[in-house]
Amino acid sequence: MPKLSEANPYKLKVLGIAGSPRREGNTDHLLHQVIAGASSQGAKTKTVILSELNISPCRHCDGCIKTGKCVIDDDMQWLHTDLRETDRIVLASPVFFMGVTAQTKAMIDRCQALWVIKYVLKLPVAINPGGERKGIFVSVGGTRLHNLFQPAIATVKSWFIALDINYDGEVVFSGIDEKDAILMHPTALKDAFVAGQELVAGNMPK
Ligand SMILES: Cc1cc2nc3c(=O)[nH]c(=O)nc-3n(C[C@H](O)[C@H](O)[C@H](O)COP(=O)(O)O)c2cc1C
Repeated sequence: MPKLSEANPYKLKVLGIAGSPRREGNTDHLLHQVIAGASSQGAKTKTVILSELNISPCRHCDGCIKTGKCVIDDDMQWLHTDLRETDRIVLASPVFFMGVTAQTKAMIDRCQALWVIKYVLKLPVAINPGGERKGIFVSVGGTRLHNLFQPAIATVKSWFIALDINYDGEVVFSGIDEKDAILMHPTALKDAFVAGQELVAGNMPK
């Protein structure tokens, strides 16, 4: 007779966030692979598509400042909970004017309420049972500028700090512009799958 813990092993939760407004575009393809890699290691995965959600920009109304709860009643209310409960985050956004997409930035800015929980209320942001939280950034850009991903990476790192998530690296490809261009890349999809495996491998709680 297996022990309960053996019969029901904890599955690391991985949250994928699709930040491109172009459905089934290049970052979507990469995100699918990362999530498939994580799933192949036994993780429990969920993907949210920001362009299909109702997420208003932060108003800086300070309505969250005493409670850590955002006053805007939209999809960010449940996404806050997902962001706090997950063990891993995979944020996928193409480079738009050297940053992340508007959909992604709106979601990030709305995490000001979680920033309040951490820095004003001094309460735990992470309410996941799996211990250390980690995340990676997945991106592409049409150009091949040498610093193409640096501004977006700085934004993602700043967001991860507020959410108590350790930045675990990026999966990024420059010179990828046309829809499906990433499918022609010799290693990108495999690289993304392996990144998903590595994000969870060896980290399943006992
Ligand atoms: C509004 C907009 C802004 C963009 N800005 C940049 C940019 O600053 N640098 C760059 O290399 N590519 C830029 N691109 C190109 C996209 O990053 C590229 O087409 C990418 O493959 C889109 O990814 P997706 O298929 O996941 O949406 C921009 C595209 C759009 C529509």
